[in-house]
Amino acid sequence: MTLLKEPDFGTPARTSETTVTVAVDGIDVTVPTGTSVMRAAAEAGVNVPKLCATDSLEAFGSCRLCLVEVDGMRGTPASCTTPCADGMKVSTQTPRLAELRRGVMELYISDHPLDCLTCSANGDCELQDMAGNVGLREVRYGYEGENHLDSAPDLSNPYFDFDPSKCIVCSRCVRACDEVQGTFALTIEGRGFDSKVSAGVGETFMASDCVSCGACVQACPTATLQERSVVELGMPNRSVITTCAYCGVGCSFKAELRGDELVRMVPYKDGGANEGHSCVKGRFAFGYATHPDRVMKPMMRESITDEWREVEWAEATGYVGRRMREIQAEHGVGAIGGITSSRCTNEEVYVVQKMVRAAFGNNNVDTCARVCHSPTGYGLKQTFGTSAGTQDFKSVDEADVMLLIGANPTDGHPVFASRMKQRLRKGAKLIVVDPRRIDLVRTPHIEAAHHLQLAPGTNVAVVNAMAHVVVTEGLADEAFVAERCEDYERWAEFISRPENSPEALEEITGVPASDMREAARLYAAGPNSAIYYGLGVTEHSQGSTMVMGMANLAMATGNIGHDGVGVNPLRGQNNVQGSCDMGSFPHELPGYRHISDDAVRHVFEDLWGATLLEEPGLRIPNMFDSAIDGTFRALYVQGEDIAQSDPNTQHVTAALAALDLVVVQDLFLNETAKYAHVFLPGTSFLEKDGTFTNAERRINRVRPVMAAATGKQEWEIVCEVAQAMGYPMTYETSSQIMDEIAAVTPTFSGVSFSRLDELGSIQWPCNEAAPEGTPIMHESGFVRGKGRFIETAYVPTEERSTRKFPLILTTGRILSQYNVGAQTRRTENVRWHKEDVLELHPHDAEVRGINDGDMVTLASRVGETTLRAIIADRMPVGVVYTTFHYPVTGANVVTTENSDWATNCPEYKVTAVQVGLKQAAKPAAHGEASQSTAAPVMVD
Ligand code: SF4
Ligand code: SF4
Ligand code: SF4
Ligand code: FES
Repeated sequence: MTLLKEPDFGTPARTSETTVTVAVDGIDVTVPTGTSVMRAAAEAGVNVPKLCATDSLEAFGSCRLCLVEVDGMRGTPASCTTPCADGMKVSTQTPRLAELRRGVMELYISDHPLDCLTCSANGDCELQDMAGNVGLREVRYGYEGENHLDSAPDLSNPYFDFDPSKCIVCSRCVRACDEVQGTFALTIEGRGFDSKVSAGVGETFMASDCVSCGACVQACPTATLQERSVVELGMPNRSVITTCAYCGVGCSFKAELRGDELVRMVPYKDGGANEGHSCVKGRFAFGYATHPDRVMKPMMRESITDEWREVEWAEATGYVGRRMREIQAEHGVGAIGGITSSRCTNEEVYVVQKMVRAAFGNNNVDTCARVCHSPTGYGLKQTFGTSAGTQDFKSVDEADVMLLIGANPTDGHPVFASRMKQRLRKGAKLIVVDPRRIDLVRTPHIEAAHHLQLAPGTNVAVVNAMAHVVVTEGLADEAFVAERCEDYERWAEFISRPENSPEALEEITGVPASDMREAARLYAAGPNSAIYYGLGVTEHSQGSTMVMGMANLAMATGNIGHDGVGVNPLRGQNNVQGSCDMGSFPHELPGYRHISDDAVRHVFEDLWGATLLEEPGLRIPNMFDSAIDGTFRALYVQGEDIAQSDPNTQHVTAALAALDLVVVQDLFLNETAKYAHVFLPGTSFLEKDGTFTNAERRINRVRPVMAAATGKQEWEIVCEVAQAMGYPMTYETSSQIMDEIAAVTPTFSGVSFSRLDELGSIQWPCNEAAPEGTPIMHESGFVRGKGRFIETAYVPTEERSTRKFPLILTTGRILSQYNVGAQTRRTENVRWHKEDVLELHPHDAEVRGINDGDMVTLASRVGETTLRAIIADRMPVGVVYTTFHYPVTGANVVTTENSDWATNCPEYKVTAVQVGLKQAAKPAAHGEASQSTAAPVMVD
């Protein structure tokens, strides 16, 4: 493939119900009212020279290169800032315009280094292109006068350079940071000749508010802001469209290569989820894929205390198959199982659950979604009839009110956060429900209307209180409820009870009743109100109850079934939605159909040529318990580091250590691999061929950018293991796997690789009824027929603060790191976050004698760890917070086995803890190891 260059229409597209027709250089073109002359010209195939305009940003009109002549209009207006009027006749090429443009270019070039041939942007520089375009051949002004050619570069950012000597002060970077990213990190300092781009007064990019999203780099028409990788490796010469492997936003990228070397990731303008934007992880943090720590050969060992020995693929997969069968012969069919990964493709996940069901002959398959969004699946299925979010991301552009619960999108889902911020800056209102004062509560040009700073573990009380206000104050959408829902009367009676009033729940939640009332009124008033939520909702003992509570609130106010509304989980990992869709849960076949449904099971039995058990298998926590009991003996772990990511680490590692056979399929020797007997090296997203499904049910293609470094796609390895067990499972390509998924999954029946290539991406359901997919769910009816109101009584968690453990620990993520950190820790992202830290309120720090930066102990009833304290007034008193990106910290050493009543999703967000200053280590006695309080180092 060659290097894909997307067209730049100069100014953003307009959507208007009316159109105007203009003639550009004699070519008639009809465009929506409000479209600029520049864009109309581009749509007519006429490219007007430009420098300060690009179609991801509003027109600015500063460079004066895009001048045109318009019949009947005086002067030469800038085409980027001039809207089309019906009947307008525009000329873009006249001798007068050519002269003017050459004059403008001459001025730019006279203050620009003439090192084009050696410049890193040579061949990809709009200034260079425009100089050629306007026919500039000589510059009359010398370089003797004042210029900017000696300005010092800022090389502080690990991923991009800023060389002000090449800057033409077009302000595209500043506007990208404001309009696209919403960080407002850049300004143009000074005036006239002295004006220059600045990331803060006297600050470097690294020291500024910049979050390294790269939008400014992408917008820069010169080499002033340039990816370091382009400087080092040269301009790319081919590209492949693929999908980010980090969060559930699912951004599309052009992976740009020079030969076989990946040079840069450029967000793809036609990406349905990101429309040309990205965050620091997707754009820059891809170096882990070629990190020397990657394991490239299969490895085996008899015992976990032995050294690993490299083996050939056939020996490894043959051994796994034989041992699995031996263990089943000795301990029963149900003694083995598998865990699928939300980081793997749909096709890879599908084959693992098929191997478990058809080759293992049981339903002992579960997924890492168990520990994050399983309550979403349960709660939305019960109320709406399908286990998925209701909207596409674009829908937020129509939201008047956003209710954001237990999510921190600027860190966890940055590209969607930028979209939310764009809408909020246009006047939408925001209600934040979170114990912490997350960034969106107050950020440049945005202030939440309400921040309900609830006590951890009281989500259900807050959503009930809000629903109580809706019902008792007559704010419900009675017509919607009567037509579309069932069980409303019963629920309304329940929610109207005095114990669900804001006043009754004020003390429990810690949120003033008046705030809950006001927030409920705002949400009900909408008119379009949308709920977005994250793991702060699901990872609780009442996670499923809370999901149903939010669904109740949305239904009661009619906020379902059209743009701007809905109930939307912000999924953590890239393919959480997909791994659930693919039948990874022990009770569900692909498409969320219960394993006990005879008709559905028979479809799979016929296709797979195997008899399937109708009883659900073991969930992950049951697997661990059974391993310790001795009834569960072997585990196949696909791409998931359960020893680091699952709660109560001591319990997990005891279970792993008790197993006869642990097989780990992953990129790196992670924490779980310490307990493994066989290691099967996996492929990075750059090598995979398949699909990911993002939080909006959007199926995106993951195309191989380079050959699999291990020589095998991951699904091939799984097929080999199944075959070694005597079950024939073969595919020629991953597209055949998708064809099989489509054949047995009604919501996927219209999906294929060729259809994805044609449409770009598809939001399921995609079938005969919706051949191009379904951006918005439940438009004319719920998937289950009527939306069902379910009573959601608030039940306090058993995890309470006590005298011994007086604080509540809650966990979360941070922008620069991802999940267990295995990927991001192997990139320059460590420059932002090199260790897990514990945030606590100044008061809680003071009473414990803790200063900012001190090492502290964090202890719960199940374990203890050490980490650095950061004093942060965004924390409420009594609540502390940490991340879980570094194995050396082992935050999950302290989290407990408490879990959601319906799904066993761990209660990560509520752990009673104590924090204390770590005592300085005593000098080590002879022969004794000393305790270290040194900063953690990277291990895994
Ligand atoms: S850094 Fe680039 S985008 Fe920013 S003003 Fe300079 S030339 Fe324009
Ligand atoms: S990288 Fe992103 S946040 Fe940083 S200055 Fe550029 S646009 Fe702003
Ligand atoms: S927002 Fe998520 S999907 Fe998009 S680039 Fe960042 S990590 Fe990747
Ligand atoms: S492109 Fe229109 S003024 Fe710069």
